[in-house]
Amino acid sequence: MSSLPRHVAIIMDGNGRWAEARGLPRIKGHRAGAESVRAVTRHAARRGLEQLTLFAFSTENWKRPRREVGYLWRLLRRYLIEERGELMENGIRLIASGRIAEIPPFVQDALAETRQLTAANRKMTLCLALNYGGRTEIVDAARRLAADVARGALTLEQVDEAALAARLYQPEAPPLDLLVRTAGEHRVSNFLLWQLSYAELCTVDTPWPDFREEDLDAVLADFATRERRFGGLVRK
Ligand code: IPE
Ligand code: IPE
Ligand code: MG
Repeated sequence: MSSLPRHVAIIMDGNGRWAEARGLPRIKGHRAGAESVRAVTRHAARRGLEQLTLFAFSTENWKRPRREVGYLWRLLRRYLIEERGELMENGIRLIASGRIAEIPPFVQDALAETRQLTAANRKMTLCLALNYGGRTEIVDAARRLAADVARGALTLEQVDEAALAARLYQPEAPPLDLLVRTAGEHRVSNFLLWQLSYAELCTVDTPWPDFREEDLDAVLADFATRERRFGGLVRK
C-alpha cells in the first residue's frame, strides 16, 4: 500500500450494543470483541504497521457496574496469557499505556510477563491502553516535568513540547497517523489527547465485535486518500 500509516489507534466501541442487539448480556460483547483484537492485531502486523494502539479500558470505565468492570479485567488477564503464542508467532511486542500501577494486581502480573516475553519482537508493537486517560497522561507528564524542574534537572526555559512529549507514557512511539472509532460515535472520549493533534480521523458504524481484517483494510484505504498538510501547503 502506497501511504501506509505507521501508527494506528482504535477506540474499540460497541461491544455492549452488539450484545444487546442479540439479546445477550453485555459481557458477551466484550468476549466477542477479544476475537476482533486477535484478528485485527495479526492483520495489522501483516500489513506492516509499526504500532497499533487499542483503547481497552479508560480511566472513566471504572464508573461501570462492578460486575462488568470485574469481567473486563478478568478478560484482559486471560487475553494477556492466551495470546502469548500468537504474539510470538507474529513477532509482536506487547506494551501498555495508562496508570498501570492502579490496575488489578492479577492483571499487572500477566502484563509484566507478556511484556517481558515479547520484548525482543520487532515486527509490530501492540500497545494496550489500560486505565488510560488522555488528560491523566498529560497531568502525569506535567508532574514529571515539575519534579525535574524542582530538583534542578531542567530549567523553566527548557520546558517545551519536546520536553513534555518525552515524559508521556510511551515517548518512543511513532507519531499517531490515524485514529479509528467503531460503532458510529464521533467523539474522542479522552483518548490520546496530546498525540491526536495531527492524526487523521476515521469513524465506522461497525461495532467492534464485527470489525475484522477487511474493515481494517477499508480504513487503511481511506487513510491513503487523505492529504496531510500539517498546517503547511505541502502534500504528503
Ligand atoms: C467498548 O464497548 C469496550 C469498552 C469500553 C471496554 P462498550 O462496552 O463501550 O460498548 P457500548 O458502547 O456500550 O455499546
Ligand atoms: C471509550 O469507549 C473507551 C474504550 C473503548 C475503552 P466508551 O464507550 O467508554 O466511551 P463513551 O463513554 O461512549 O464516551
Ligand atoms: Mg461504548
